[in-house]
Amino acid sequence: MQSTSTPLARTPSPADNSSAPADSNQRKVYVKTYGCQMNAYDSDRMADALAKDGYARTERPEDADLYLINTCHIREKAAEKVYSELGRLAKQKAKAEPGAKDFLVGITGCVAQAEGQEIFRRAPVVDLVVGPQTYHRLPEIVSEARAGRRVVDTDYAIEDKFAHLPRPDRKIVQARGVTAFLTVQEGCDKFCAFCVVPYTRGSEVSRPVAQIVAEAEALAEAGVRELTLLGQNVNAWHGVGADGRQWGLGELLFRLAEVPGIARLRYMTSHPRDMDDALIAAHRDLSQLMPYLHLPVQSGSDAILKAMNRQHKADDYLRLIDRIRAARPDIALSGDFIVGFPGETDADFEATLRLIENVGYAAAYSFKYSPRPGTPAAEATDLLPEEVKSERLLRLQALVTKQQYAFQQGCVGKTVDLLIEKPGRREGQIVGRSPWLQPTIVDAKAGAIGDIVKVRITASEANSLFAECIQG
Ligand code: 5AD
Ligand code: SF4
Repeated sequence: MQSTSTPLARTPSPADNSSAPADSNQRKVYVKTYGCQMNAYDSDRMADALAKDGYARTERPEDADLYLINTCHIREKAAEKVYSELGRLAKQKAKAEPGAKDFLVGITGCVAQAEGQEIFRRAPVVDLVVGPQTYHRLPEIVSEARAGRRVVDTDYAIEDKFAHLPRPDRKIVQARGVTAFLTVQEGCDKFCAFCVVPYTRGSEVSRPVAQIVAEAEALAEAGVRELTLLGQNVNAWHGVGADGRQWGLGELLFRLAEVPGIARLRYMTSHPRDMDDALIAAHRDLSQLMPYLHLPVQSGSDAILKAMNRQHKADDYLRLIDRIRAARPDIALSGDFIVGFPGETDADFEATLRLIENVGYAAAYSFKYSPRPGTPAAEATDLLPEEVKSERLLRLQALVTKQQYAFQQGCVGKTVDLLIEKPGRREGQIVGRSPWLQPTIVDAKAGAIGDIVKVRITASEANSLFAECIQG
């Protein structure tokens, strides 16, 4: 089976429960989100932009006047899901009574960017197509579509899209919970041979410090305690600091740790080439920076890394991990792996398994290679048979599952700080987040939502932990 999890998919999306109260005549938008955390963040921003125009967000698709699908183009399966969903929506639209409330369908995200006008041809049900760079124009685009014009907007915006998005409303942020995403960087200049991101999200853009700090402050004032900084290549972020000096992500993390109320920081996704000394020092010196790092390597074979244009060798990665672990010994690592890249031999694959053995991951996300139109690797002719890819994926996943199990077991008996996030499924229980991202179930008396409490881990399951409160 091909894993479709995206990195840190276990992190609950703040998009899950963010509907604002609404009256029955108000227009309603439903946003379905596919793909990565950046898309979850963008879905929230789109809903915020539309809220200023009188749209309430609904979690019930059948109530929506506007149905947005925020799409992912990273692998073929992700993109195809969109078209099957559109087929279903076309039936729903055809069944609606003529003259009944007008129901608009919009495609946003990376499929919108990659396919543009082509979407109208394949799926006549669609009324608007909006790429990730122009979400701040969404309210205008929706009004145009309401007036009966089909709109495609997939420009790479010249203006700063973040500066144009409204600040989220305090009540909406509170409803989303005590953890939040904050986009600091977008796009990628790395051009890995298999990847569509540099084409769908464009080249690297770093958000200015003042804007990031202002958003962090607004989130903290609304009760957010933990921030995850997002970027396709987040550790390539750079900007000019308040001191007039050039900052990298390490310096930015130190600045955000000063925002009153922010107790925890995380960031994703990183490229090994951009892990600079200041960022590694932040892992050593900044207690608010949580000991968890998602650092994809994709393969353990130098030949495949070269063919993938990853711009480093397997040993560079291993030495980097050593330096990060020397700085922060309790750090948990997760990674992404692609199996069956064109030309991958048995020996190449064995090298990947050896690298995984060497590192010892707390979690890993693995995928069968899928050719993406427009990428250099899509031209390759030495493709691997599907059975070989499937067999390799199973072997890799078995190894990773063993490591994940060992990591979970290793947590038992440890004393950790837990950020209390939400009520548990059972009465009398509450769920917190461990420093290593595991949902952790503890007695509700341990604390209130937003508190950070000391607990001892008593037992572990595949993805979650159980803990008891430590008095004092
Ligand atoms: N085929 C398979 N997996 C891919 N990824 C990106 N592009 C492809 C592709 N063409 C995986 C990489 C990346 C993760 C987000 O998705 O492992 O890190
Ligand atoms: Fe894609 Fe590579 Fe950029 Fe990651 S670093 S977004 S895999 S091109």
